[in-house]
Amino acid sequence: MENKVKRIGVLTSGGDAPGMNAAIRAVARTAQYLGIDCVGIRRGWNGLINGDIMPLDGHSVNGIINRGGTMLYSARSAEFMTEEGQMRAVQTCKFLGIDGVVAIGGDGTFRGCLDLSRHGVSVIGIPGTIDNDIACSHYSIGFDTACNTAVDAVDKLRDTMQSHERCSVVEVMGHHAGHLALYVGLAVGATAVLVPEKKYDFEQDVLEKIRTARLAGKTHYMVIVAEGVGSAMDVAKEIADATGLDPRVTVLGHVQRGGTPTARDRVTASRLGYLAVRALAEGKTNRIACIQHGDYVDVDMEEGLAMKKSLSELSLAALDAFTGA
Ligand code: F6P
Repeated sequence: MENKVKRIGVLTSGGDAPGMNAAIRAVARTAQYLGIDCVGIRRGWNGLINGDIMPLDGHSVNGIINRGGTMLYSARSAEFMTEEGQMRAVQTCKFLGIDGVVAIGGDGTFRGCLDLSRHGVSVIGIPGTIDNDIACSHYSIGFDTACNTAVDAVDKLRDTMQSHERCSVVEVMGHHAGHLALYVGLAVGATAVLVPEKKYDFEQDVLEKIRTARLAGKTHYMVIVAEGVGSAMDVAKEIADATGLDPRVTVLGHVQRGGTPTARDRVTASRLGYLAVRALAEGKTNRIACIQHGDYVDVDMEEGLAMKKSLSELSLAALDAFTGA
């Protein structure tokens, strides 16, 4: 098969996620394997606008599969949102002979892909975000590592909460989505979990859970709050006012975005990176390399962006059964 692209660029954009490096490595190695020239585009779409690129052969990605962050840096580009910025990026592609781009990131990154493809550059997106909120893909690179980081932190918190018989309110990331909070809540055996996808009743979903746990003999309580619900501080204050408990608040923050990627994230990133370059080589464009029903597939980018993702009903129901005990 003759490659339909000659020179591709790979970039990471939006919030970084553990496993992005593994995806970059997979793109560079697959390109070399197929005989396609590959460059790294630094600092997201800004790098494409400014021609901020670096050569990326199979050798230059040695030793990164196990590293968190992204060797290409990441950014959110306001300039790329403008027609002028997009035209500059297209000019850079023409000038540098880049006829295909692999963009690793979230929804915002993929919207950037659409803009670029309208101007004739082939693009494939790879879901990379700890939020796991890319609707067309069951899984996004970084989610597993972020879950494990958060679970590890909450387990540590539990030790001291248990010793002092306290209530802990932990805020986890997720932007507008509650996937991270739901998984973390299930994994740590939380007393209560609040996610933006499910309207909650404070009395029933928090206070009653704490009361039931107390009646069952528990003397410490772990409440997980997705950032999309609001501030953990506010939730803690409400708990304090209603119960007389003196909760401690922990906002896990950006620590959830760092760290050595888990095997799951490395392998997923490697497969998606391979799939993305193969798709470009076959002449595909405007696709998102993703996972559906356990299969690695590519879907139309506009269709993918129009999809909606909800939380697993089973997980939510199970959570309701497990909490407050
Ligand atoms: O999208 C990933 C994410 O970490 C979200 O969970 C969070 O809301 C946001 O990025 C934080 O972004 P920033 O790095 O700009 O603070």
